[in-house]
Amino acid sequence: MTDHVILTYAGNHYRLPVVTGSAGEQAIDISRLRAETGLITLDAGFANTGSCRSAISYLDGEKGILRYRGIPVEQLAECSTFKETAYLLINGELPSQKALTRFSVLLNDHSLVHEDMKIFYQSFPRSSHPMGILSAMVNALRSFYPELQRLEEEIDITVTRLLSKVRTMAAMSYKISRGHTVVYPRPDLTYCANFLNMMFDSPVRPFEIDPDVVKALNVFLILHADHEQNCSTAAVRVVGSARVNLYTAISAGIAALWGPLHGGANQAVIETLSEVAQSGTLDRVLARARDPKDPFRLPGFGHRIYRTYDPRARIMKRMAHVLLDKLRISDPLLDVARRLEEIALKDAYFIDHHLYPNVDFYSGIVLRAIGIPTNMFTVMFAIGRLPGWIAQWKESMDDPDWKLCRPRQVYTGPNERPYVPIEDRPS
Ligand code: CMC
Repeated sequence: MTDHVILTYAGNHYRLPVVTGSAGEQAIDISRLRAETGLITLDAGFANTGSCRSAISYLDGEKGILRYRGIPVEQLAECSTFKETAYLLINGELPSQKALTRFSVLLNDHSLVHEDMKIFYQSFPRSSHPMGILSAMVNALRSFYPELQRLEEEIDITVTRLLSKVRTMAAMSYKISRGHTVVYPRPDLTYCANFLNMMFDSPVRPFEIDPDVVKALNVFLILHADHEQNCSTAAVRVVGSARVNLYTAISAGIAALWGPLHGGANQAVIETLSEVAQSGTLDRVLARARDPKDPFRLPGFGHRIYRTYDPRARIMKRMAHVLLDKLRISDPLLDVARRLEEIALKDAYFIDHHLYPNVDFYSGIVLRAIGIPTNMFTVMFAIGRLPGWIAQWKESMDDPDWKLCRPRQVYTGPNERPYVPIEDRPS
């Protein structure tokens, strides 16, 4: 296997080292490129740029493979819980029974949110999007909890604090938005059951925890737990590289996730499926997706890395069917989604562009069955992605090669010209 490439430029030859990852993927190390040649690279959207070495998740977009710390996501979805998967991502190994118990105790100990933070929730307009609120509230945690020191134990506490509190904060935002009493976390409940209880328990109608729903939520969160250098993770790493505190870096990740090309797609999918269900025809949506002049993209389809079916979408689709069957729910949007997928997968435009369902295509159907309101969908994605963001932030902090993230540019504006006083400018 070659360990360098030769670049020929202006009559000179330059040897650029090739770095090989543990699964065989190779990258040209261009860190000395400008110093040696005066050139920089140009790569819109970083589509062809590796920004770091990472040992957290592995993704093969051609074969449709996703592994967390080497373990296939299918096995984790089948056998693990979200809590255990979070531990795996953050610490690199599955926990022993003792480590898992300690992790659970920490999650429980840190699950309450400072009572003064409730006032913030009440100050947001009722129409605020929960993702905007979550991003602001996570940033605000920095003011309520002490600055993270670089001691292992303190990092542990900040990490579990964040994992536990974001879940409580998400449920609180839902309750407050509805004008309902906040439900506090309970020490006797598992991570997912606790979240569902905080969302749906009420003084007049106690919430009955359904193990099938708890399992579905675990799988949903596991499937979202990490996805290498996606937009929000890159945001966490970039913001974190300025050595801000963890809360602020995560808040940046939440803001990035909100976008409809990223995590916000799960809300957009349901809105699109509802539109189709109302109009009774798929033609308009498909025509818009194919139209090069229309900026519309079919939400839940396409991916920067996957050129085949997203492995998460496959699991999500199966789970949507199983859950709806178990709960005896008939959701007309599942039929619309199935028809849309069937047509799209045979359509020349979708085939030529390698457009397959991604994780967001069926996830909204699962969330609707659980009872999560549509405007909370991306918040659910954020709760799921949190361990991945934390693991990636931690890895970047411990990376001896890590630097302030600061890309370069190719300047295309005017060259130097004099300042013109206002009276001399054309009217
Ligand atoms: N519908 C219609 N056309 C599409 C779509 C789509 N969903 N996705 C990509 N294309 C077309 C795009 O118009 C372009 O066509 P052409 O080459 O003819 O101009 C071509 O495919 C390549 O698109 P691109 O924008 O260069 O590809 P990208 O890698 O930048 O886009 C994406 C990836 C996810 C932003 C895009 O597929 C998209 O907008 N999908 C819809 C939003 C969505 O579902 N996002 C969730 C992604 S998965 C969960 C997550 O990680 O957030």
